[in-house]
Amino acid sequence: MFEHLKVLPQDPILQLMQSFREDPRPDKVDLGVGVYRDAAGNTPIMGAVREASKRLLLSETTKSYVGPAGSQGFNSGLTELLLGADSALSRDQRVSTIQTPGGCGALRMAAEFIKICKPDASVWVSTPTWANHLPLLGGAGLRIRDYPYLNRQSLEVDFDDMMATLETAQKEDLVLLHGCCHNPSGADLTMDQWQDLTALIQRKQLLPFVDMAYQGLGDGLEEDARGLRYLAEAVPEMLVAASCSKNFGLYRERTGGLMVISDNAKNHAAATSQLLSVIRAHYSMPPAHGAALVETILQNKELNRQWQDELNGMRERIRQLRLDFADKLAPAGDFDFIARQKGMFSFLGISEKQVHYLREQHGIYLLESSRINMAGLSDETLPRVAAAVREALDSA
Ligand code: LMR
Repeated sequence: MFEHLKVLPQDPILQLMQSFREDPRPDKVDLGVGVYRDAAGNTPIMGAVREASKRLLLSETTKSYVGPAGSQGFNSGLTELLLGADSALSRDQRVSTIQTPGGCGALRMAAEFIKICKPDASVWVSTPTWANHLPLLGGAGLRIRDYPYLNRQSLEVDFDDMMATLETAQKEDLVLLHGCCHNPSGADLTMDQWQDLTALIQRKQLLPFVDMAYQGLGDGLEEDARGLRYLAEAVPEMLVAASCSKNFGLYRERTGGLMVISDNAKNHAAATSQLLSVIRAHYSMPPAHGAALVETILQNKELNRQWQDELNGMRERIRQLRLDFADKLAPAGDFDFIARQKGMFSFLGISEKQVHYLREQHGIYLLESSRINMAGLSDETLPRVAAAVREALDSA
């Protein structure tokens, strides 16, 4: 059965993680995979998460099944994080969130669900987008179309081009948007652009599908959700894949949710029943532990405060690194866009050859596309990385 199989190349992000691990140089720097790192280069367990773990250990009474939708407490907590407290959508029974194994689980279950609702619809994704969007959505059999997003010269959003291309989308096509902290570019839509885009989505009757993987790491928990909330108020139907990997630091616990908005309570009941049946047929039920930690934090005032303080600290550290890095690169050209962009990632805008130069000569690891994880820098490595980038720019 296996004799015809070829060995596949690894996903570029996972491949880079492995090459970094195998590099024996003690001063190597990992700017590849998107995980938050503190000033010492560690990805710590957040204090609020550690405290929630202790409480959970004492209070948990069973490991029995949770059901395909996961925990109701987690689901309503995530809905509130995404939409804000007292959303009219909740009161009208037009929205629910279903716990999933990470943001990837949410994206894939959304894709399988779309395949049932609209087998012929296309999903429009930004160029560039997170590499794993393509197999996650395409693997469910959906047709993928691209819309231009980033201007490769200025490394800013090419909004006119984006809008012109989305004008060609067909009624009921889906548009995948990054809720905040666009991965891989860090270039986000302004609120005016969210409004113009919402008008286009309404006029052309498209279905917005938002990937929210970095809420709280751009401008703040509320601020980062403003575009998504504006859209959610305006359209009849919408899907949101949310991840708790980065903002709760729960990466390996695989914690996320798929939020579904429907145009009325009756359709919503049918949609969620279909989605739960899709889930049952794939992994039956989500893992419980990460979601229980998030639920414990969100439901406890003091832990919630502690978590938000820690998240604010992470965001502020990334913002400061952006300012310092742009400053240190300034002699080599205009890198101000790094200071303006949001979240973990930016493109350096250097060539593949220069990326390889950094890896070979200096043990500095970034994706071939020149995406760097800003949070991988530290006060100690930042000047060294900036000097190496300037050297790489001179070298080719
Ligand atoms: C990234 O883009 O580096 C992260 O989302 C991690 C991953 O799974 O690719």
